[in-house]
Amino acid sequence: MLFLLLLPLLALNALSSPTPDLLPRDPALKPYQLRGVQSPIFHLYLQSLPSSKSTPVMGPESSSEYFNLDSSIQSLNSSLYLNIGPKVDGKSYLPLSLDATSNTTAWALEGDTVITSTASTYGRQLNFLACASSTSGYYTIYLQTGSDVPSGVTCSNYQTIHTPCLC
Ligand SMILES: *[C@@H]1O[C@H](CO)[C@@H](O)[C@H](O)[C@H]1NC(C)=O
Ligand SMILES: *[C@@H]1O[C@H](CO)[C@@H](O)[C@H](O)[C@H]1NC(C)=O
Repeated sequence: MLFLLLLPLLALNALSSPTPDLLPRDPALKPYQLRGVQSPIFHLYLQSLPSSKSTPVMGPESSSEYFNLDSSIQSLNSSLYLNIGPKVDGKSYLPLSLDATSNTTAWALEGDTVITSTASTYGRQLNFLACASSTSGYYTIYLQTGSDVPSGVTCSNYQTIHTPCLC
């Protein structure tokens, strides 16, 4: 009788504690290098500009940083978070910054592609604008929500940023 009473409890317990080893690994948990896949940022990686830690740039693999991806993106190297700033002068490209605190929880992964989620205030965006930095070899990146390009700087539109693989 006691056994019969316990049975449903045992079943419930089994349901509420799945064996972690049998579940697929959450790809978002792994620290990733984040890279460009098209010229001019082909095989350049997300990192801080050496002379300005708060400026996110695509730069050489040798100085690449590693990031934890969640609804926020945090560098394991600098502990800084990748944040999206407000529109400037109504332009479609939004400035990005690396800050000690996260105020952006819009990030998501779609396959190996870094996006802002459909549910976020930005909607689903996956394009970035990459503009040649005054420091040669580095490109400043912006979240591109349209097609505007600044004048007076060499920029490349519709860039995407990816994890190396889902492993
Ligand atoms: C970032 O951290 C990773 C992992 O610890 C390390 O391999 C890499 O060299 C670091 N990058 C920089 C620029 O310090
Ligand atoms: C997040 O912080 C950055 C840097 O301080 C700032 O430029 C940006 O406006 C902030 N974004 C929001 C949504 O508060």
